[in-house]
Amino acid sequence: CRVVVLISGSGTNLQSIIDSAAGENSPYAVCAVISNKAEAYGLTRAQTAGIATEVINHRDYPDREGFDSALIETIDQYQPDLVVLAGFMRILTPGFVRHYSGRLLNIHPSLLPKYQGLHTHQRALEAGDREHGATVHFVTEELDGGPPIVQATVPIEPNDSAETLAQRVQVQEHLIYPLAVQWFAEGRLRMNGERAELDGQPLP
Ligand code: GRF
Repeated sequence: CRVVVLISGSGTNLQSIIDSAAGENSPYAVCAVISNKAEAYGLTRAQTAGIATEVINHRDYPDREGFDSALIETIDQYQPDLVVLAGFMRILTPGFVRHYSGRLLNIHPSLLPKYQGLHTHQRALEAGDREHGATVHFVTEELDGGPPIVQATVPIEPNDSAETLAQRVQVQEHLIYPLAVQWFAEGRLRMNGERAELDGQPLP
């Protein structure tokens, strides 16, 4: 299975996916990493792993449609089976999402459907939640609203700041994201309408 990863930043999730792909008998390989930011550290991670990189700066395009068309053109040159968003901080157009429907994954740092959008750790703290976490999901036209695949839960400790909580969540992100990619690459995971299915069974 060929995987293209889209990033905007540090790429710790990308790293977990690269590391898992390097394992024995991995069912997938990362064939390219694309960033909308030239300075994203994830590009260095990809180059270190010998993976092709591309930068497509959204500022070079007049609108989202133009940017997304360029993105599609570049991604499709790699003929991926799966496109993985790993800290990619641009909202994608419906056209883009439709083009990769059923083969586009994202990770969101909350227990979706809670806290769609930004500042999830701060919002969980302010709400007085006792638990928080991360969700891997298929991407649909609804922002952070596509069918969930796997979630990880962490406790919120009394003295947590957004930073300490984010760190605890990220440790889990680095476990569940490679797992979901692996399931997909093994042909065990698919999107069926509103639900994700693993081995033919609907996921909660
Ligand atoms: C992660 O927390 C992820 O949940 C969110 O963006 C962050 C990316 O971090 N979508 P990294 O670039 O993978 O380190």
